[in-house]
Amino acid sequence: MKKAFITGINGQDGSYLTEHLISMGYEVGGLVRRSSVAENQTYRINHLEKDIKTFYGDLIDKSSIDKALRAFKPDYIFNLAAQSHVRLSFDMPAFTAQVNSFGALNVFESVKEICPEARVYQASSSEMFGSSVDPDNFQRETTAMHPVSPYGCSKLYAYSIARNYRKSYGLFISNGILFNHESPRRGKNFVTAKVVQGALDIKYGRTDKLEMGNLESFRDWGHSSDYTKAMIKLLNHSEPEDIVISTGKAHSVKELCKVVFNYLGLEYKDHVVINKKYFRPEELPYLQGDSKKGRELLSWEPEYTFKTLLIDMINEFEKEYL
Ligand code: NAP
Ligand code: GDD
Repeated sequence: MKKAFITGINGQDGSYLTEHLISMGYEVGGLVRRSSVAENQTYRINHLEKDIKTFYGDLIDKSSIDKALRAFKPDYIFNLAAQSHVRLSFDMPAFTAQVNSFGALNVFESVKEICPEARVYQASSSEMFGSSVDPDNFQRETTAMHPVSPYGCSKLYAYSIARNYRKSYGLFISNGILFNHESPRRGKNFVTAKVVQGALDIKYGRTDKLEMGNLESFRDWGHSSDYTKAMIKLLNHSEPEDIVISTGKAHSVKELCKVVFNYLGLEYKDHVVINKKYFRPEELPYLQGDSKKGRELLSWEPEYTFKTLLIDMINEFEKEYL
């Protein structure tokens, strides 16, 4: 039985990844950090409680990573823990760097010292591309990286040090460069979940308006369940690789609003109002990923489309209103 250890196990991706790994026969463990609201913190993985082993720890505290790795002895490590909100990274740039950059370094150092044979997945991000787009309007593994947020910069450090540790010390570390992925378990302050919840609030008469930021940016949105399957395939590939995972289709935030509101029988223009507080000091205007390399190397294809992803979210969120 292979052992997989997940930092950020109680996050959106951590929960789907855990389900997939358990269904494939892996033994799963993970790091959970201390929270003052412990009763809510693990809601995404409470249904898996009996099948997993969790350890208290924090990426900022290397000793906690060391203890967990010594106790669990993993074959695979998925480093998913992060301050993952881009706009909030402008409010908390140093904390974001501490967790996302030096936290990742802590994980790689711990692996080097304690379990150098383990295979490591680093949760890299399309946000690292920033303002850079190839002439054909796609970003891919070879596209230059010019991040435009403290979050993007912090992830670029982790991506780079992962590659450096792979070369320098022969560690098996792969970067999954994942484009935006969502699900019914998405945090409610990310745009898809915010729009779905906002439109449902309007449909059920709880409010009449939804305050939004920039509607003109484009994102390539996939489903977390599909993308976490790609993570497992990446670590089971014979060699460590850096791989883009995306749907290959970009949609604007305006289009997102239109699809969700229309599905619920509403007109978004009647309800969406712009509030500057949701704008970023610097916006990333366009993301569209070319995942040809990953699809071929890993035999991976997404099952969900933009529309079926949103319907899945609407249907799950709506249960709370019925
Ligand atoms: P998420 O839902 O925000 O989950 C992040 C996880 O990290 C949570 O379990 C969180 O715990 C944990 N965490 C945060 N700070 C920590 C710390 N200092 N020490 C230990 N754990 C900590 O994010 P996600 O959507 O699942 O994304 C997973 C990873 O993929 C992240 O690294 C993200 O940056 C990256 N990524 C995401 C996307 C996307 O579109 N979803 C795309 C590309 C890359 P608490 O819940 O207790 O805070
Ligand atoms: N969150 C949010 N809230 N975003 C809004 C809003 C709003 O009210 N109004 C417009 N937007 C726009 C943002 O300006 C951005 O252009 C787009 O919606 C998507 O925002 P988010 O859903 O917050 O995601 P993100 O693209 O910034 O970051 C996500 O994807 C990255 C991969 O590209 C996160 O999951 C990151 O962790 C991930 O690495």
